[in-house]
Amino acid sequence: MSDKAVLSWGKGKSAEFPVLEGSIGPDVVDIRTLYGTTGLFTYDPGFLSTGSCMSRITYIDGDQGILLYRGYPIEQLAEKCDFPEVAYLLKHGELPNKDQYNDWTGRITRHTMVHDQLTRFYTGFRRDAHPMAVLVGVVGALSAFYHDSLDINDPEHRIIAAIRLIAKMPTIVAMAYKYNAGQPFMYPRNDLSYTANFMHMMFATPCENYEPNPVLVRALDRILILHADHEQNASTSTVRLAGSSGANPFACVSAGIACLWGPAHGGANEAALNMLEQIGDASKIGEFLKKVKEKNSGVKLMGFGHRVYRNYDPRAKLMRQTCHEVLNELGLQDDRLFKLAIALEKVALEDDYFVQKKLYPNVDFYSGIVQRALGIPVKLFTGIFALARTAGWVAQWNEMIADPEQKIGRPRQLYIGAPRREYVPIDKR
Ligand code: SDX
Repeated sequence: MSDKAVLSWGKGKSAEFPVLEGSIGPDVVDIRTLYGTTGLFTYDPGFLSTGSCMSRITYIDGDQGILLYRGYPIEQLAEKCDFPEVAYLLKHGELPNKDQYNDWTGRITRHTMVHDQLTRFYTGFRRDAHPMAVLVGVVGALSAFYHDSLDINDPEHRIIAAIRLIAKMPTIVAMAYKYNAGQPFMYPRNDLSYTANFMHMMFATPCENYEPNPVLVRALDRILILHADHEQNASTSTVRLAGSSGANPFACVSAGIACLWGPAHGGANEAALNMLEQIGDASKIGEFLKKVKEKNSGVKLMGFGHRVYRNYDPRAKLMRQTCHEVLNELGLQDDRLFKLAIALEKVALEDDYFVQKKLYPNVDFYSGIVQRALGIPVKLFTGIFALARTAGWVAQWNEMIADPEQKIGRPRQLYIGAPRREYVPIDKR
């Protein structure tokens, strides 16, 4: 017998709604019949208390700082897996065996090239266009190349679309970097691993041999794993909402990239690094935090705070550790921004304002520093986030399309505008 939630309102009115239990985490009140039985809507701007779907992909416990991909702790996956293995897990629900892994990585490798005509989309952008603008355009344009060969109700078509997106994002992101730098595009190399190939397409030139540093490849691969999925965040919800209308996955992922660009979301890594540059020196931390605490200053401590985590984001801890490894490998132990970030984090975590509001470093606080050390330009940080999150987006999109309960997403509202009124001719206004 499932539990019930009772709603009572007005003069003695009441209604009951089933409470649904998940495998772990909060139960939910199933209010799908609320409007039909009571004439009431719920009101939850920002969806602070609203579950939009049932999912088996990612679980977050914000109070405990726990993140699981298909039940596996992020700490174990970040240490023991590579990104394609995690992408397989997110999509298929289980870690691949050797044959499955080889088949999966083999299929991805054979789809890393983009249609040669796609390269012409780049020349339509100014050289100094923000890479996220380029990614929104070029990923959306993939629809023009594959839309007619995609029946989203055919599981095989869905898997090939997922493989194409996971395979081509590194190529598309690297091409955005090369276009901005005025260097020739580098073709993918099938003899390299997924992340080594990405670094090759980013930093190699036709003029000399380039072999990616394995320590740096491992670090970037871990960064991709940490960003791969995160439950029903804003950009994933965007992909799901776009997909609920039957739009093709390329258009849906392009919509997700647009949403991720925002500084409150994936754009925070770029904003956090710019914030550190703006603070400049540990002696200025107090003055900066004073501004953050001024209610109407509009200044936020970028890379801090999270809708779900009211404790340390487990990814931030792993990102800080990766930072150490990369800076040590590059002999940058005294990197001034890293030392400033460590000092800023220490001061903030001891400051009552942040403690009271349960504001802790999130995934974006350190990711900018390590990406900068890897040679990735600040403007491309969110592009790397989009590359990684594509694995989560395609997994979530597939789960939604295959969900028999899914319908087109169409929220309602509390209308507070003018009631019906008659037209007034202009000479009478
Ligand atoms: C990501 O959802 C996800 O899972 C996202 C993500 C993912 O993997 O997909 O984890 C990736 O987007 C991480 C978050 C990156 N964003 C930033 O670092 C930008 C700075 N952070 C904030 O903008 C904010 O913390 C949010 C947007 C992340 C969360 O905002 P909420 O949940 O809507 O919380 P809120 O804005 O209501 O904040 C509660 C209070 C407010 O103060 P009061 O109005 O109660 O007085 O805390 C304050 C906020 O002003 N606050 C901050 C702050 N974050 C919240 N004050 C200063 N600095 C901050 N960073």
